[in-house]
Parts: sequence; structure tokens; C-alpha cells
Amino acid sequence: MESIQILDAKKHVGETVQIGAWVANKRSSGKIAFLQLRDGTAYFQGIVVKTEVGEEVFQLAKNLNQETAVLVTGEIREDSRSKFGYEIGISGIEVVGESHEYPITPKEHGTDFLMDHRHLWLRSSKQHAIMQIRNEVIRATYEFFNNNGFIKIDPPILTGSAPEGTTDLFETNYFDQKAYLSQSGQLYMEAAAMAFGKVFSFGPTFRAEKSKTRRHLIEFWMIEPEMAFMHQEESLEVQEQYVAFLVQSVLDNCDYALDVLDRDRAILEKYTKLPFPRISYDDAVELLQKNGFEDIQWGDDFGSPHETFIANSFDQPVFILNYPKAIKPFYMKPHPTRDDVVICADMIAPEGYGEIIGGSERATDYEFLLEQIRNHGLDENEYSWYLDLRKYGSVPHTGFGLGLERTVTWLSGIEHVREAIPFPRLLNRIYP
Ligand code: 4AD
Ligand code: MG
Repeated sequence: MESIQILDAKKHVGETVQIGAWVANKRSSGKIAFLQLRDGTAYFQGIVVKTEVGEEVFQLAKNLNQETAVLVTGEIREDSRSKFGYEIGISGIEVVGESHEYPITPKEHGTDFLMDHRHLWLRSSKQHAIMQIRNEVIRATYEFFNNNGFIKIDPPILTGSAPEGTTDLFETNYFDQKAYLSQSGQLYMEAAAMAFGKVFSFGPTFRAEKSKTRRHLIEFWMIEPEMAFMHQEESLEVQEQYVAFLVQSVLDNCDYALDVLDRDRAILEKYTKLPFPRISYDDAVELLQKNGFEDIQWGDDFGSPHETFIANSFDQPVFILNYPKAIKPFYMKPHPTRDDVVICADMIAPEGYGEIIGGSERATDYEFLLEQIRNHGLDENEYSWYLDLRKYGSVPHTGFGLGLERTVTWLSGIEHVREAIPFPRLLNRIYP
């Protein structure tokens, strides 16, 4: 008899197989027991009929506690009534690991309780679906960049630099020096682009941000492509193609997860249409001012209500172009005809999910960058390697960073970014 994963049920209809699974829930009458099982790949139903299995197996089934680990034997059948589509008609059950008083019961629990039990909460069907979407976004990211001539380069996690400002750094001792956990691999990716042309990174980044919002994590994963000999307009095309590809991949490969999450496919379909709209920062400020946001002045950064209003003015993700120089990092390319804005863009996701991409063209001029580094209060000695990139064959280049968890939150249609990562690090939470 073959051991299978229920995900492969389609290939085994009518066969008797064995599956290792946990008991998620159960209900029973006098003659029949319904086990809700999960084997890690999906949730499915196991049916135990007393007259078929005999008294002993039937009693065992009826008394299985939640999260007991079992090996079930039985015949795979189609089950058109369930989301998953297949069930197993059980003939035998072997208990592998007992479970007593599993803390997460099918009733509602508060968020703090669930967060304290994140190591167990991950087993629930919604969390399972979100992690499948996360996995698909990761898989599709590699496919997209590998198919488009990029090579993956891994920037360091322990760094001496602060690309995104010095206020939210995690500092640590590095023998007798100071080091920081990486906020962004960008500066290293710029070096890599000068070596390899088109590169991308995919790794954890850290921000000691004192933000307690539904969009902020302390530790999050970022995809950072960087492209040599490329100006901003071409980068925006790569960005929209990449995001549309992620959406399409989720639509193509995450049917079951989208069903579990009740995510409307028709809405997601709209995000596969290109191009995405673009609006300048200037016009965005004007749009907000005309629509009752009297608090916003030219020069301010947008808060989440502003981003949501701008996003709601469009049907697709929207690029906001060319922000004020004063609110953006030191490395951005100055505008050719204006000295108050830089060549950059943020991509704002629809439906109130906020910024998912931040990117820009990079300054190429040695003297300009040196001055910027000084003006931002950074130590020019620590950035001399970065300045070298402008001494030896400096070329136009551009790049961006996409936040994995914000993207997964959006595609999953869930409320909070904390559910888009297996073990979220949040303000005041590093357990479990
Ligand atoms: O806009 P950010 O700060 O841009 C950079 O770090 C650039 N160096 C990227 C680059 O050009 N290579 O961050 C990029 C993205 C944001 O758009 C957002 O999606 C995500 O990273 N992000 C966060 N996600 C979760 N929690 C946080 N605290 C985040 N901060 C940024
Ligand atoms: Mg940003």
C-alpha cells in the first residue's frame, strides 16, 4: 500500500492508500464519524463507518482528540461538497502521537492568545492557506528574475551601513566594532549590478521601527533587484511586470488557498493588466488637498490614510513618482530640472494595503553622493567602498525593493501583516 500526501489525491482515486495526518476536528453520530484531517498539504475529510470498520476502530475514531497524529488507511474518493474535492473512506487508524487539551479549539480566540501560540496557530487552515500564497510568491519571484536574465546575489546581513536612515537600526557588537542588522541590501546590490548587470536579492531585513501598525514588521523579507544601464522608466516596467506575474502565479497555482481565504479572483484579475497607473507626488498632493485632506502640505510624507485614498482612486496598483528630496534617502538620483524632487517611485497596492515597493534611480555622480553622505550625517569613511562604484565605470542604474509580507497580505486579502510571516517579530513581541 502506498503512502501519499492528500494533495496528490487526484492520482489515487479508487486506490487504498496510507496518509500521515493530524486530527483537526471531528463529529460523529451513532454509526458514522467524520474526521477533519490535515496532512500539511491540505485539509480533508476522513469518513469512518461503523459497519465497515467494526466496533473497535469506530470507538477509536470517535475518541480521537484534536491534533492527535494518526496514520489512516483507506480509499480515496471524490467529494464534490468540500473545498478540497477529495476524501478518504477510512478502513484503519493507527495513533502515532497522542494530544491532550490542545489549546486552540475550534471556537474564537483573541489575537494575543493566538500570537502566544503562533507555533500551533500555524496549523490552522487560514494560516496554512496564507503560507501557501507566501510560498507561491517566493517561487514565482525566482522564476521571474531567472527568466529575465537576473542573477541572485546575497548581500550581507551584518553590515556597517545604514541605507534607509540611521534612526531605526539594530546595533550589535562585532568583536571590537559596531555592526547593524541589514535594513536593506541595496548598497551591496549596486556593487553587484556593476559586476553582473542585472541582480536580485531575497533576504531578511530589520527595522527597529517603533511602529505598531498593521503594515509594519520589525523583521521582514525583501526582494531587491538592481539593474545597470537602466533608467527609472524601464525599471517601472520591470516592477509592474513582476507584480502582475506574482498575481497571475497566485491565481494559477493557489486555487485551494484562495478558496480558503475567500479571496475574490475577479479583483485579483484586474491586477494582472498592464500598465499600472502613474501619478506624480505633486499631483497626488493636489488630489488629496482637493478631497478634504487639509492636513497634507507639499513636502510631507504620506500616511496610510493618504496612501489608501490615492490607491482607491485607481483600479490597479499605482506608482507615485518623484517625491521631495528631503524625505527620501541619500542615494537617490536628483531630478534633471528640479532640485526639490528625486527620481523615485513607490508602488501602492490597492484595497488599502499601502506601499509594497520603494525604488529609485541611483545617483551616479561622485561629488554629489559625497555631499549627500555628509549632509545625511553619515561617516564618509564607511561609505568609501560605495563611492568607489562612482569612480570606476559609473553607469545609470536603478533598483527597487518589494516587501514580501506586505505583498502576501495584499494577495491573501488578510487584515494584518503579522499573519503573512511564520513567526512575526513585532514591537514588543519576540515570542515564540
Ligand atoms: O521603501 P523601503 O524602505 O526601500 C528600501 O529599503 C530600498 N533600499 C529598496 C531598494 O530600492 N532596493 O522598503 C522597501 C519595501 C517597502 O515598500 C515595503 O513593502 C517593505 O519594504 N517594508 C516593510 N515591510 C514590513 N514591515 C516594515 N517595517 C517595512 N518597511 C519596509
Ligand atoms: Mg519606502
